Amino acid sequence: MTIRPIGVIHTPFTEPKGTPIQPSAAEGAEGWIVLDDKYLSALRDLDGFDRVWLVYWFHCAGDVRLEVTPFLDDVTHGLFATRAPCRPNPVGMSCVRLLGIKRNILRIADVDMLDGTPLLDIKPYAPRFDNYPVKRCGWLDRAKNGSHLADERFKE
Ligand SMILES: C[S@@+](CC[C@H](N)C(=O)[O-])C[C@H]1O[C@@H](n2cnc3c(N)ncnc32)[C@H](O)[C@@H]1O
Repeated sequence: MTIRPIGVIHTPFTEPKGTPIQPSAAEGAEGWIVLDDKYLSALRDLDGFDRVWLVYWFHCAGDVRLEVTPFLDDVTHGLFATRAPCRPNPVGMSCVRLLGIKRNILRIADVDMLDGTPLLDIKPYAPRFDNYPVKRCGWLDRAKNGSHLADERFKE
């Protein structure tokens, strides 16, 4: 299996500390994507969508850890019950706002990834596909909610 980046995501965040932990906690944080020119025609009709899913590679993730203490809790959980970057295949997914497209540059907002993150795919966000009502949300139902901002999690 071969995975090749289709572009690079640029954001204001150069280190994990201070990077929002999800787009829902990153409102207003703007970034941009530089897409490889060879994919230009694949952007046709994307500009009609308010939000897009970005699938990307956590290129700065450390060693794989199968149990982690996630940002929103202070006890460990199985990696696959979390969104932590230290995964066997360090793939991230973020539903960001699409502000505009000019040629191969996509302006985006609500970004929660580091500057220079390799982009693997773009898909339109569609509530009719992507939004399910659920009764349970695992450990997140009981987790301290605090603020979702990364800064908060580093508070002493
Ligand atoms: C909890 S993850 C969630 C990412 C994504 N929304 C998801 O659910 O897959 C977000 C955190 O991953 C870290 N991160 C973001 N981009 C990264 C990258 N390229 N390499 C390593 N860590 C990254 C930052 O600390 C950020 O706060």
